[in-house]
Amino acid sequence: MKKIGILGSGVVATTLAGGFIKNGYAVCVGTGHPEKLDGWKALQSGNVSVGSFADAAAFGDLLVLAVKGDAAIAVLESAGKNNLEGKTIIDTSNPIEAAPPVNGVLKFFTNINSSLMEALQEAFPAANFVKAFNSIGAPLMINPDFNGVKPTMFICGNNEAAKIEATTVNTLFGFDTEDMGQAEAARAIEPLCMLWCITGFTTNNWTGHAFKLLKR
Ligand SMILES: NC(=O)c1ccc[n+]([C@@H]2O[C@H](COP(=O)([O-])OP(=O)(O)OC[C@H]3O[C@@H](n4cnc5c(N)ncnc54)[C@H](OP(=O)(O)O)[C@@H]3O)[C@@H](O)[C@H]2O)c1
Repeated sequence: MKKIGILGSGVVATTLAGGFIKNGYAVCVGTGHPEKLDGWKALQSGNVSVGSFADAAAFGDLLVLAVKGDAAIAVLESAGKNNLEGKTIIDTSNPIEAAPPVNGVLKFFTNINSSLMEALQEAFPAANFVKAFNSIGAPLMINPDFNGVKPTMFICGNNEAAKIEATTVNTLFGFDTEDMGQAEAARAIEPLCMLWCITGFTTNNWTGHAFKLLKR
C-alpha cells in the first residue's frame, strides 16, 4: 500500500486527497497553513493527516504537487530535496500569471518553448515529475461521468516507471492515459489548461467538459 503525500491545500489538493482516501490510501496533506484544513480534515473518515510541506513529502511514497504555479519551486524547496529523491511527483500545477484572463484566455509566465514542469525537473533532478491533472477542473478529477466515455489524461515526464505509476492513478480515477513523451511535452500539455478554462470563463460551465483524444 503506497502512502500519498499531497503538497497543497487548495481544491485540487483536497479533491485528489479525497480520491486517494476513498480508495483506501493513507494520505498526508502538506500546507504552509495547516489550520486551513481543519474543517476538511474533520469530514474525512480515512487514514489522513495534515502537516507541513516537508511532513507530506517525507510521508509519501508517491507525491502530488498541487500549488500555485509561481509558488511551486518555493514549496518544493520547503518540502526538502531529500524528501523528493527518487519519488514520482504528479504535477498538477500550471504556470498561470497573476493577471485577469483576456476574453477567457489566461496568461502564462512561461513561453511556448518552455514549461513549468521542465523548470521543476531541472531544479529537482532527483525527483521524477509527471504532468497530469492540470487540464481538467477539480470537480471532474475523480471518476467523472461522461456517459461511459473516459476522458483523456495527457501526461509526460522523463521517467518511465514514474509514468506507469501516474497511469495507475489516472486509471483509478477514471481516465484514459496518453503518454506524450518527455518533459518537453509539458510545453503542449500545460496550455491545455488555458483551452479548458476558456469554456469555463465564457460559459460559466466548469463541470461539463473534458478532453478526449480520438484515435483510429
Ligand atoms: N482549480 C482547478 O480546478 C485546477 C485544475 C487543474 C489544475 N489546477 C492547478 O493546480 C494547482 C493548484 O490549484 P488550486 O486551485 O487547488 O489551488 P491554488 O489556489 O492555485 O494554490 C493553493 C496552494 O498554493 C500554495 N501557495 C500559494 N501561494 C503560495 C506562496 N506564495 N508560497 C507558498 N505556497 C503558496 C498554497 O499554500 P498554503 O497551503 O500554505 O495555503 C496552497 O497550498 C495550480 O497550479 C492550478 O493551476 C487547478
